[in-house]
Amino acid sequence: MPVIAILGAQWGDEGKGKVVDQLSEGARMVIRFSGGDNAGHTVINPYGEFKLHIVPSGIFYPNITCIIGNGVVINPARLINEIDNLISNKIDVSHLFISDRAHLVMPYHTLLDQLEEKSKAERAIGTTLRGIGPAFTDKTARLGIRVSDLIDKRGFFNRLCSIVNYKNEILTKIYGADPLSVEDIYHQYIEYAERLAPYIKHTPLIIQNSLTNDELIILEGAQGALLDPDFGTYPYATSSSPLAGGACQGSGISPRCIDGILGVFKAYCTRVGGGPFPTELNDDVGNLIREKAHEFGTTTGRPRRCGWFDTVAARFSHHINGFTGMVITRLDVFDILPQIKVCIGYKLDGEIIDYFPANTTELIKCQPVYEELDGWQSDTTGIREFEKLPLAAKKYIAKLEELIGCPTNIVCVGPRREQTIEVKPVLDV
Ligand code: GDP
Ligand code: IMO
Ligand code: MG
Repeated sequence: MPVIAILGAQWGDEGKGKVVDQLSEGARMVIRFSGGDNAGHTVINPYGEFKLHIVPSGIFYPNITCIIGNGVVINPARLINEIDNLISNKIDVSHLFISDRAHLVMPYHTLLDQLEEKSKAERAIGTTLRGIGPAFTDKTARLGIRVSDLIDKRGFFNRLCSIVNYKNEILTKIYGADPLSVEDIYHQYIEYAERLAPYIKHTPLIIQNSLTNDELIILEGAQGALLDPDFGTYPYATSSSPLAGGACQGSGISPRCIDGILGVFKAYCTRVGGGPFPTELNDDVGNLIREKAHEFGTTTGRPRRCGWFDTVAARFSHHINGFTGMVITRLDVFDILPQIKVCIGYKLDGEIIDYFPANTTELIKCQPVYEELDGWQSDTTGIREFEKLPLAAKKYIAKLEELIGCPTNIVCVGPRREQTIEVKPVLDV
């Protein structure tokens, strides 16, 4: 120990990559525990600007062991691409390890993600089309192929034959698509296995050593709580758990070992893809936020939908994660606004409610109830001490803390590593 989980607390893209990169300085290990290359984590540090999809954001520190955990689904082609990109930028990746229990994203997963989305037409989820849903479906259906399956070539070929035959039935009979070739996939994946072999490890032992030595371990979340398949805006959700519980499951670390759970929130809300979003702004303010903050998807480049901070959703996120503290990123985006609204409740069928409804139709009907606060209209990007923030900015943060019921550990005022204000030490819980 100590172990800290850094989790997305909204609909993803809260700035987890930046926070993990910044907090990794004192860490010994960073573990990604869920999702796959649907994630896009932006890190801007002295080595440049990087968009990480599968590789943990601690990779820039050569002394940190970076683990792609059992809970991640890996598209090997994309991982190799990411590794090559890091190497070409002179980043040492010899300290990267891949769990042999992680599942693989296969060519039929990406194909089926596209075909399923297309067939849903206006009901499409708006997935990243990276095959993530189909890969997790196969994991649960016990039809998945794991990293460790690649070691035994004959066993892998036999398993692949039966799975691809089954997938080809679906591809040809349901979607009228062309069948895939087992041989082509087999040879391609054997090539990937050879390339990735140096990184593949039995990770529980490595993690256990770190736990025993009392080293700081960071669990790096992907996506955000409101995309969780159980508690998020289902079916407009992802397919693995971005929650504190998912962090244990996807890394093999016991809940008893977790010391800190940081919820990363933006100072406002965004979401990419379909699904309910009560505080969405389809107006000039929404456009202003999108343009000023460059709110375009890291993975797909899609424009992100923007809206005011929603404390009903945030409180729910806190309850299902048990945050020990919050990180509030992108506070600087509000530097230009004269007034800021915060959603303090929902109005549903004429009644004020303070919970986050499970039902999509109900959530779409919810009208946000706002409280309006003064903006600060001054530049915060160079501030490094909490006391030096404008009074209105401190009042905004205090309002969020009061409504969510959670203290703030860190405030971010820019995308670069150093544009970070420590409000309270992360492990001071
Ligand atoms: P992640 O998926 O949670 O890692 O977040 P993304 O990288 O997808 O999106 C967050 C974006 O916000 C990235 O472009 C970051 O560089 C940027 N960012 C992070 N923190 C701040 C901040 O405090 N201020 C500003 N202006 N940008 C930030
Ligand atoms: P990071 O880690 C934002 C969204 C997709 C879609 C839904 C399902 O960068 O915060 P999927 O491809 O997972 O089946 O898509 O989930 N989504 C994300 N949105 N940030 C992410 O990751 C996301 N990962 C998935 O846009 O709405
Ligand atoms: Mg992202």
